[in-house]
Amino acid sequence: MKVLICTDTNAAIDRAAHLMTDRLRDKPKSVFGLATGSTMEPLYDRWIAIAGDEGLSFARARTFNLDEYVGLPASHPQSYHHYMERFFFDRIDIDRANAHLPNGAAPDPAAEAKAYEGRIANAGGIDLQLIGIGRNGHIGFNEPTSSLTSRTRLKTLTRSTLEANAAHFPPGETPPRYVITMGIGTILESRACLLLATGAGKAEAVERMIEGAVSAACPASALQFHPSATIVLDPEAASCLKLRDYYEQVHPAGRETTVEGARGA
Ligand code: F6R
Repeated sequence: MKVLICTDTNAAIDRAAHLMTDRLRDKPKSVFGLATGSTMEPLYDRWIAIAGDEGLSFARARTFNLDEYVGLPASHPQSYHHYMERFFFDRIDIDRANAHLPNGAAPDPAAEAKAYEGRIANAGGIDLQLIGIGRNGHIGFNEPTSSLTSRTRLKTLTRSTLEANAAHFPPGETPPRYVITMGIGTILESRACLLLATGAGKAEAVERMIEGAVSAACPASALQFHPSATIVLDPEAASCLKLRDYYEQVHPAGRETTVEGARGA
C-alpha cells in the first residue's frame, strides 16, 4: 500500500484529483471505477477543474460506479445515479452510454448484479477504482463480514451505515436497506485502487485498513492484498496510524518519492 498523508484536507483532495487526472491524460479511454458519498463531492469538483485546465476530455472514458440503492429509480434525487449526474456527469463531456451504475430499479436485483459484472468484464476491467471508506471499514457497500472474494451482489446495509446515509435524505425519509454493490473480489480485480479518506471520523477505520489484520471484519483491509493500492489521507484521517512517521518519511507531505530522489535528498 502506498500511504500518502497530505498537509490538509484540500491538499488530500487535490492529490487524489491529480492522480485521477494523470490516468485520464495517460489513457483517455480509461475505465474508471467511481464512488459516491460526501468525501467524493469536492474530489469531483477538483478533478473536473484540473482536467478542464489541462484541456482533457472524458469523451472516451468509461465509468462503473461501485453501488446503487435497490428500489430507487435513477430519477430519484437520493439515488446514486442522480448524485453522479449532479456532481460529475452533467459537468463533463462523457458519453452517457459509457457511464454505468447498477440499476437499482431492476425487477430482479440479483440478475442485475450478475449482469453488471458482465458489463465490467466486457469493458476490459477497471483501470483505476476510486474508493471511499465507511466508519465501519466498508468499501463499496461491502459491510463487515462480507466475503473477501465476493462479487457484485445484493447487500443489506448495517444500522450504522443507514444512519450515516440518512443525512443525505430529507427529514422523515429513510434510505433503502438494500443495495447492489460491487464485491470485494470485484474491487480487487481493478488494475489500480485509489482510496480517499478525510476527517477524524474515518481515523479508526483507516488504521484497521492499513495496519490491522486482513479480515472480513474490516472489508477495506482486503486492499492490503492489492498490488497497486494508493491511500490518500488528510492528517485527521491519518491520526490513529501507528507508523505515521514512516509513511511521512517515505512520502513527505504525500508526495511521490523515488529511490533517485531519496538519494539526492
Ligand atoms: C459510496 C460508497 C461508500 C462510501 C462510504 C463513505 O459509493 O461506496 O463506501 O464511499 O460510505 O461515504 P462518505 O464519503 O459519505 O463518508
